[in-house]
Formats: sequence, C-alpha cells, structure tokens
Amino acid sequence: MEYKKIADSQIKMTQLMLPSHANFSGKIHGGYVLSLMDQVAFACASKHSGHYCVTASVNKVDFLNPIQVGELITLKASVNYTGRTSMLVGLRVESENIQTGEIKHCNSSYFTMVAKDEQGNNIEVPGLILTTKDQVRRFARSIVRQEDTRNRSGSFNAKDFRLEKYLELVQAQNVKVELPS
Ligand SMILES: CC(C)(COP(=O)(O)OP(=O)(O)OC[C@H]1O[C@@H](n2cnc3c(N)ncnc32)[C@H](O)[C@@H]1OP(=O)(O)O)[C@@H](O)C(=O)NCCC(=O)NCCS
Repeated sequence: MEYKKIADSQIKMTQLMLPSHANFSGKIHGGYVLSLMDQVAFACASKHSGHYCVTASVNKVDFLNPIQVGELITLKASVNYTGRTSMLVGLRVESENIQTGEIKHCNSSYFTMVAKDEQGNNIEVPGLILTTKDQVRRFARSIVRQEDTRNRSGSFNAKDFRLEKYLELVQAQNVKVELPS
C-alpha cells in the first residue's frame, strides 16, 4: 500500500476577476467560480492519485460573499479523505480587494473525485499520511458526512417514500399540493 502526505498534493491558484466573468448585476458569476473550483479539485486529486480524475459529486456550496470585478480570488484545495478509488477534496475560496487589501471568505466546498486509468476504469488511490490533529479531524468529518449523505438519500428514495408521513410538513410551507385524486 502506498501513502502520501496531504501537503504533497495541495493546490493554490490565484486569478484576477475580469469583466467577462461578471453576471448581469456586475458581480462575478457563481458558475464561473464553480468551474475554477472544479479545476483546482481536479488538479489536487490528480496529483495525489497520479491519475487523471473525474468529479463524482459536489457537496453543498454556499456563496457567502459576492466577488467583484477587479478582485483577486485565491482557491485552495487539499485532499481531506481517501477511499479506495475516491478522494474528498476540500476547497476554500477567498477574494482580495487589490486596493484595500480586504480579504473575504467567499465559499468552501467538498468535491468527491474518482481516479481513472487510461482505459477509463476506476483505479485505487494512495492513502493519506495524517500528521496533524486538524487532518485527523477533517478525515473523521468526511467519514461521518458520507454516512449522513447515505442515510439521507436512503430515506427519500422514490420507492420507499411515504407520502402520509411528509404531507403535513410540506403543506405547512409556501406551496399548494394538488395531487390527482
Ligand atoms: C462517479 C463514477 C466514477 C462512479 O463510478 P462507478 O464505477 O459507477 O461507481 P462505484 O460505486 O465503483 O464508485 C467508485 C467510487 O466513487 C464513489 N462515488 C460514486 N458516486 C459517488 C457520489 N455520488 N458521491 C460520492 N462518492 C461517490 C464511491 O463511493 C466509490 O468510492 P471508493 O472506491 O473510494 O469506495 C462514475 O459514475 C463516473 O465516471 N461518472 C461520470 C463522472 C464525470 O464525467 N464527471 C464530470 C461530469 S461533467
């Protein structure tokens, strides 16, 4: 079994936000930031595994602060967790106002990347060598989050969904339920 340190595959990328990246309100388009995040996650996971990777899943992304044209954004990626063929890459995005030096946390997210061989088959990845308490914390959090996701998606699969259990909850919201009789 091969093991690698997290530091050996960490990626940091800084980019200037141009007017062509803006949406109709003059702020940077969220989809553009997501695309940069995917590139950085790809580079980080591919570096750890030594193979090109694909994105299997993207965890929730909250856009905490808008990014302005003319700001620098810095994206940081680290492998937080290694499975058999998958890796969970943690991402953090910060913006920097060049004139004032103000730095804002724009978002954090987790991308699950799977390593592929040259035939396109999933391939085993090296494990991680954890050298700090924070690295152990992130690895443990990844395991628990995966279990939570599995439990959540299991309870809402179409086959097992019990309408009577949730109808009242749904009807208490900003919605009108008009089911065929
Ligand atoms: C994602 C993908 C690699 C899964 O492969 P698969 O052979 O169908 O599925 P497996 O069950 O063997 O999963 C492989 C690994 O991915 C993980 N995985 C698969 N789907 C996942 C998901 N939705 N979320 C998190 N992890 C996932 C599995 O847990 C497994 O991890 P492990 O080997 O570390 O235990 C495959 O469906 C694929 O290639 N999808 C297209 C990816 C792509 O093109 N992305 C870009 C979209 S534009």
